[in-house]
Amino acid sequence: MRRCGIVLAGGTGTRLHPLTVAVSKQLMPVFDKPMIYYPLSVLMLAGIRDMLVITTPGEQPAFRRLLGDGSQWGLSISYASQPEPEGLAQALLIGADFLDGGASALILGDNLFYGANLPVLLKTASARPEGATLFACRVKNPSLYGVVSLDASGRPTAIEEKPARPKSPFAVTGLYFYDHRAVEFAAGLSPSPRGELEITDLNREYLEAGALTVDVLGRGHAWLDTGTHDSLLDAAMFVRIIEERQGLKVCCPEEIAWRQGYIADGDLEALAAPLRHGGYGDYLLSLLSEGRGQ
Ligand code: DAU
Repeated sequence: MRRCGIVLAGGTGTRLHPLTVAVSKQLMPVFDKPMIYYPLSVLMLAGIRDMLVITTPGEQPAFRRLLGDGSQWGLSISYASQPEPEGLAQALLIGADFLDGGASALILGDNLFYGANLPVLLKTASARPEGATLFACRVKNPSLYGVVSLDASGRPTAIEEKPARPKSPFAVTGLYFYDHRAVEFAAGLSPSPRGELEITDLNREYLEAGALTVDVLGRGHAWLDTGTHDSLLDAAMFVRIIEERQGLKVCCPEEIAWRQGYIADGDLEALAAPLRHGGYGDYLLSLLSEGRGQ
C-alpha cells in the first residue's frame, strides 16, 4: 500500500518571537539539527519516502535550500504553501492533489519522538490499510493538547481539543496516519471558534466511524514539542544528552537513509564531505567504518 507523508511546517511561531521573526520555527536548531529533521526522520522510519512539506509561502525557499528534492536521502520531497495558519486539518486539503486519493501520514514540523521500538510501531501503523491511527502519550498538562479517552481495552471513547477539564492524561501527539478518507473528512469540517480546521474534529470523524486506533506511547518513549523557549531548550538538551551518552545521533536523516538502504556507502561519504567541520560529517563517516549492523 502506498502512503505519502506530509510535514506541516507553517504557522507564525509567535510564541517564539523574536527567534522566529526572520526564521521559520521549524528551521530552528534542536541541538545539532534543524527542527524539521526530527519529524522528517519519523516519516522515514515509518518507511515513507514520498513527502510533501507545507510551509508559509515566504519561508519556502529556505526549506528548499535545506531539503532540496530529497533525492540526496533517497526521498522525493515536494512543497506546498499554507498562506495563513487556518488549522492542522487544512494540511489534508492543501495536500489533496499530492495524496491523489491515497493514504497519508501527517506530522507536525515541531514534534519530536524518541523511544525503543519506535520504528516497529510506526511501520505497524503505516501498514494498516483502513482507518486512522493516532499516538497518545501521558502528559502532566493534558489541557494544552488534544486529549483522548480510552476504555479498559485501550479503545478510544472520546477525543477533545484542549479541554479545560481533561477526562484522561493522554495527549494526542502530532503524528496521524490516515486512510484515503481524510481529505473527504477534512473537506466537511467547519472552522472552530478559534477559526481553525481542527485536526481533533477530523479525528473525531474517524472515531465516530469506528475507524480510529490509538497506540499509547509508554514510559520508554519521549514525545516533545518545541513551541516555547523552554520546550525548545528542553528538546535540545534531551537530544544532546542521548547523543553524548550513546555516541549515536537522534533523527539523523542521512543515517536513516543509509541504514534503510535508500543510499549507498559512497552516497553517505559524499554527504559527509561538506559537513566535516562541525563533526556531523565525521559522525556519518564513522557509521561507514562500523557498518550497518551496529
Ligand atoms: O502537538 C500536538 C498538538 O498539536 C495536538 O495535541 C493538538 O490536538 C493539536 O491541535 C495541536 O495543538 P496546538 O494548538 O499546540 O498546535 P499549534 O497551533 O501550536 O500548531 C502546531 C504546529 O503546526 C506549529 O508548529 C504551527 C503549525 N501550524 C499550525 C497551524 C494552526 C501550521 O503549520 N499551520 C496551521 O494552520
